[in-house]
Amino acid sequence: MIRARVVGTGNYLPEKILTNKDMEVLCDTTDEWIQQRTGIKQRHVAAPDEATSDLCTRAAENALKDAGIAAGDVDAVICCTLTPDYMFPSTGSVVQAKLGADNAAALDINAACSGFLYGLATANAYIQSGLYKTVVVTAGELVSNRIIYKNRDTGVLFGDGAGAVVLRAEEGERGVLSMYLGSDGKSADMLIMHKGGSKVPPKPDNVLDIFTIQMKGQELFKRAVVKFPEACQKAFDSTGLTIDDVALFVPHQANGRILEAAAQRMGLPTEKLYMNIDRVANIVAGSIPIALHHAREDGRIKDGDIVLLASFGAGVTWGSSLIRW
Ligand code: UT7
Repeated sequence: MIRARVVGTGNYLPEKILTNKDMEVLCDTTDEWIQQRTGIKQRHVAAPDEATSDLCTRAAENALKDAGIAAGDVDAVICCTLTPDYMFPSTGSVVQAKLGADNAAALDINAACSGFLYGLATANAYIQSGLYKTVVVTAGELVSNRIIYKNRDTGVLFGDGAGAVVLRAEEGERGVLSMYLGSDGKSADMLIMHKGGSKVPPKPDNVLDIFTIQMKGQELFKRAVVKFPEACQKAFDSTGLTIDDVALFVPHQANGRILEAAAQRMGLPTEKLYMNIDRVANIVAGSIPIALHHAREDGRIKDGDIVLLASFGAGVTWGSSLIRW
C-alpha cells in the first residue's frame, strides 16, 4: 500500500525572544499568571523585515535538508497559515518561489490551529491518489506585527515561528495511518478577528482596532478538553490501534492545562504527552510541526513509533492523525 511517509522535519524560530517578564511591561500581566494559566514562559518574535513566507520557507528548507531531497523534486508546497503575506497571491506561492521548488504546485490552507492537520490530510490525499510523490507541508504564523499586546487576555498567548514536514510516497507500513478532520462553523465567534476582511473591510475609523481578537477563553478551554479525546478516538477507529500503542502524543499547543486534562481523560500517561508551549507559546498552525521537530531533537521519536497528533482551535476546527514514524 502507498503511504505518505514523513521523511523530514524542520523548524524556524526567529532569534528575538519576548519573555513573560517582557510582557509585564507591555500589558497588565505577570509571569506567574501566564505560567500558571497557560504554561508559557516565552515566545519568539520575527524581525521587522521578515514575513510569514520567510519563516515558512526557512522551516521548509530545513525539512528538505533533513530529508535529503532537493527543492526541484517537490511536487506540491502546502502552506498553512492565518497570517498570510498578502490577501493574494497565496503565501504558498511565495514560499514555492523562495524555496526554488520550480516544479511544484502551491496553495494555502487556513484552518487556524488545525491548519497543519488540514494540510497534512491534503498532502496525504494527493499522495494516496497518486497525483504527487513528494509534498512539503509548511505551517507558520507571524502574529507579532498585528497582535495588540496591551490586550492581555490574548496578547500574552501567541508567538511567531514555523515548522515543516516533507512527505513522500512509499510502499509499506510507515507513514500516515489515519486522518480525521472536523469543523463547527456555528461556533466561529468563540475565537475570531472580526475586522479587516470582506465582511468588515478596513476603514479609517476601524484601522486602530482591526487586529482585536475576540476570544471566549473559558468556553474554548472546556470544549477543547472534551474535543481532543473525541478527535483522537476517531484517529484510532480505522486502524485497530489503541491509546496503549501510542509512543508520543504531539498536540496543538494552546494551553498546558488543556493538554494535561485531555491526556488524563484519554488515559494517556503524562510522560507520553509532548509539550513545548513553555518555549514557543501558541503558534497556531505552526504549533504541531514545530512540536514534532522539537520532539525529534529531544530524542522522543524513533523509527517505528506510533505518533498521535491532534488539534482544536478557531473555526472551530479540530483534527487528529496517527503516524507510524
Ligand atoms: O489555540 C486556539 C484555541 N485557544 C484555546 O484553546 C484557548 C483556551 N483558553 C485558555 O487557554 C484559557 O481560557 C486562557 C489562558 C485564555 C485564560 O485562562 P483562564 O484560566 O480561563 O482565565 P480567565 O479568562 O477566566 O480569567 C481569569 C482572570 C480574569 O480576572 P478576574 O475577572 O478573575 O479578576 C482575567 O481578567 O485572569 C485575568 N486575566 C489576566 N490576568 C493577568 C486574563 N488574562 C490575563 C493576563 N494576565 N494575561
